Amino acid sequence: MQQRTENPVAMLSGPTAAGAWSLLTGGQDCVAPHAGRDPSREAAAAAVEILPGLGEAVRATEKFVARALRRALEQVGVRQVVHIGPGFPPPGGRPCTHHLVHAHAPQVRVVYVDSDPAVLACLRERCGRDAEAVSVVEADLRRPAELLAASGVDLGQPVAVVLANVLTFLPLEAAVPVMQDLIAPLALGSHVIVAEPMAGLLDEPVQAALNAMAARGAPAAYARTRPQMLELLAGLVLLEPGVYPVSFCLQDPLAPVPMVPVLGGVGWRGWDGWSP
Ligand SMILES: C[S@@+](CC[C@H](N)C(=O)[O-])C[C@H]1O[C@@H](n2cnc3c(N)ncnc32)[C@H](O)[C@@H]1O
Repeated sequence: MQQRTENPVAMLSGPTAAGAWSLLTGGQDCVAPHAGRDPSREAAAAAVEILPGLGEAVRATEKFVARALRRALEQVGVRQVVHIGPGFPPPGGRPCTHHLVHAHAPQVRVVYVDSDPAVLACLRERCGRDAEAVSVVEADLRRPAELLAASGVDLGQPVAVVLANVLTFLPLEAAVPVMQDLIAPLALGSHVIVAEPMAGLLDEPVQAALNAMAARGAPAAYARTRPQMLELLAGLVLLEPGVYPVSFCLQDPLAPVPMVPVLGGVGWRGWDGWSP
């Protein structure tokens, strides 16, 4: 019988980004009370009180990422995926990134990268053993060159990079140079899939919800306007439809998705000087 690793959740003493986010969509990974309190649940509850649709927004983001990955795999033939800041595996039987990827292309290498020890332990236990092509790596997005080196991906070949609700933990002035350093070494044909909490398009109190989590000890997070998203994706060719709420990107008359306050965009690494 397989030995279970020590539950990393028990070590948490404050709300974490991954913990609160997972709770928003029904996860239970991070809810072990600490000293009689349940900080991630308190942070998530405070955010939902301000913005009740947050759970829906996180689920719509998953769908947006899944669709963008499918395009990279099927239309462009990308054969390696780096998911930065995946958080805890999605609850409720919803597929992890490598399940989605391997359903289309079983040989594709999927690397999960996160900086939270509890997330890393959970991913290793639940996902790292699923397939040889899956690995779980500890690295910090704030050091993109180190992160890419640690990921072990072949930078001579196109890669799909997923950044969903993770750049949000960096102020824009830090996030933009991080993105430039992350994008520069990627091979032509690489896809960069970005989703961030949205500011400014709908009249939704997104920043207030993020602030409510931060007020309870979660890391500070920043909602983005559309121009700020375009700054994050600068230097890439934006794929259709461009930067929009993820629910708009998902428009499908057979499976309508409610409008959610998360902006998504996919950039394609073209030749230097290429403009669409
Ligand atoms: C809000 S969760 C997002 C989870 C998932 N991507 C989603 O959209 O639901 C953010 C994740 O990014 C990770 N993260 C935050 N800052 C990071 C950093 N500087 N480097 C690597 N991972 C980071 C957190 O540990 C967490 O797992």
